[in-house]
Amino acid sequence: MNISQIRNFSIIAHIDHGKSTLADRLLEYTGALSAREMEEQVLDQMDLERERGITIKAQAVRLEYKAKDGNTYMLNLIDTPGHVDFTYEVSRSLAACEGALLVVDAAQGIEAQTLANVYLALEHNLEIVPIINKIDLPSADPEKVKQEIEEVIGLDAADAILVSAKTGFGIEDVLEAIVSKIPPPSSDAAKPLRALIFDSHFDPYKGVIAYVRVMDGKITPGMSIKMMATDKNFEVTEVGVFRPYLANVKELEPGQVGFVAASIKNVKDTRVGDTITEADRPATEPLPGYRKITSMVYCGLYPVDSADYDALRDALDKLQLNDASLTYEPETSIALGFGFRCGFLGLLHMDVIQERLEREYNLTLITTAPNVIYKVFKTDSEVLSIDNPSKLPASQEIDHIEEPYVKATVIVPNDYVGAVMELSQEKRGEFKDMKYLDVTRVMMTYHLPLSEIIYDYFDRLKSSTRGYASLDYALIGYQASELVKLDILLNGDPVDALSVIVHREKASYRGRLLAEKLKEIIPRQMFEIPIQAAIGNKVIARETVRAMRKDVLAKCYGGDITRKRKLLEKQKEGKRRMKQVGSVEVPQEAFMAILKMD
Ligand code: GTP
Repeated sequence: MNISQIRNFSIIAHIDHGKSTLADRLLEYTGALSAREMEEQVLDQMDLERERGITIKAQAVRLEYKAKDGNTYMLNLIDTPGHVDFTYEVSRSLAACEGALLVVDAAQGIEAQTLANVYLALEHNLEIVPIINKIDLPSADPEKVKQEIEEVIGLDAADAILVSAKTGFGIEDVLEAIVSKIPPPSSDAAKPLRALIFDSHFDPYKGVIAYVRVMDGKITPGMSIKMMATDKNFEVTEVGVFRPYLANVKELEPGQVGFVAASIKNVKDTRVGDTITEADRPATEPLPGYRKITSMVYCGLYPVDSADYDALRDALDKLQLNDASLTYEPETSIALGFGFRCGFLGLLHMDVIQERLEREYNLTLITTAPNVIYKVFKTDSEVLSIDNPSKLPASQEIDHIEEPYVKATVIVPNDYVGAVMELSQEKRGEFKDMKYLDVTRVMMTYHLPLSEIIYDYFDRLKSSTRGYASLDYALIGYQASELVKLDILLNGDPVDALSVIVHREKASYRGRLLAEKLKEIIPRQMFEIPIQAAIGNKVIARETVRAMRKDVLAKCYGGDITRKRKLLEKQKEGKRRMKQVGSVEVPQEAFMAILKMD
């Protein structure tokens, strides 16, 4: 196909503004799928994604559209993950495109994530086509949204397309705008191959399938290719396109989007953002923007039943085949036994992996509270990266500690400015900026420790603004903080898996609260259990779980068998997620208590 008839585009939107629904309508309109196939939203494929209603991994699809000018165009839609954990993946997907549809909910207006993604798209010089969706809603106010787009983003919104992805209104206008406004790729077939990897998945028969955008040159089966970041060579076995099922083609030409299979055994060899080139005639420079992904959030995963350790390792191995951003290494906890310390891109990523381990691999796990990586500068000038609070050296060995900070952008109706300020201050935020988007809405910028975001910043933000606030954040680097380790002792023994790193000023308060919370969570047992919170050798709080007075079955007088069985079953259910720590049975919630306190 002539390169002038190719259009590569993404859809950027805030969560729930209708990206997936619009994508489905575009597929339907261009006949990429039959009505039956349309029953399910196609671009969000994983069950979990559907349940949570969010797009987790980028996907791609190729559409054919016969435009009003009589020509047939090849439109490649590259879907982007709609969550702040995946900003790097979004940036790579955008780098594969020439344009983006900016979808804004006509009743909600611009939200924090809309802005973050628009800025990313503008950085990549994409042509942005504003679309105002959900105009069928009675509360839709397209004129106000147009004004916001112009004033806040600085884009001309006079021609913004009014759409209802729900009813299908305006879909043809969207397709015409893709063809007329988004430029075709400019590529050179004669140059050495350069193809950008923007996603990949693992196929048990074909190995890793890399999703690519060809920038220069072309890819054909049989060709020797080189991954520029890892310097590894492979022989291409298949190339193809997304219809949306994978369909083989003879070659991928310049400007095209498709997939490459090359008997690659490990997703780590197809890193998102890396450049594929020809092994025999390599490009001199890789495409810009490649970054090795690093985990932002860590937690310990332990099987409740220690016999499941091998099964957990196998499950992590399998999940990692498809997800190079998941990292894990064996770790031993005195309290929890053998398990793994796992690294994730963010909290959502962590939740998804945990849920998949439990659902798809039938594992019952104890998860420790998530934490960030701390940089510990020791007095002997050694610098440690600490991914587990229990590994923090003794305080006399520490010169100072640094923790990761983020720039957080919050958009709220102005009635809630006070609430956001109060919360952000409590969370050690440094106020940076405040800007009115229009007469009713305000954008506030803070620098905040990432660990506070992980604690409960977002939940509290939502509840203190009645769900109106939207949040986006990006890592800005490390800053020194007064941090200490808070230990918890059960029955006199420190429980390493309950240790947390907290700010010195908040340590006493959090320690007291944590002890109180644990008292509620840890069920009564046959003996009294003292709970202590300590910093170093100093105990700062103490609570006691009193001993159980009676056997739960005592009330049953041995008569009613069904009642007795019910009680025992209930007990068993409660036990499922308990772990024997020394002599004390500790439920899963205890390890997460630190997150749900204030
Ligand atoms: P993520 O996948 O989380 O990024 O969300 P999304 O932006 O893809 O949103 P999605 O398409 O899942 O739509 C969110 C909700 O809005 C769904 O309940 C849709 O049915 C609804 N919705 C989408 N488009 C329209 C529209 O034009 N009108 C109305 N009334 N509802 C819509």
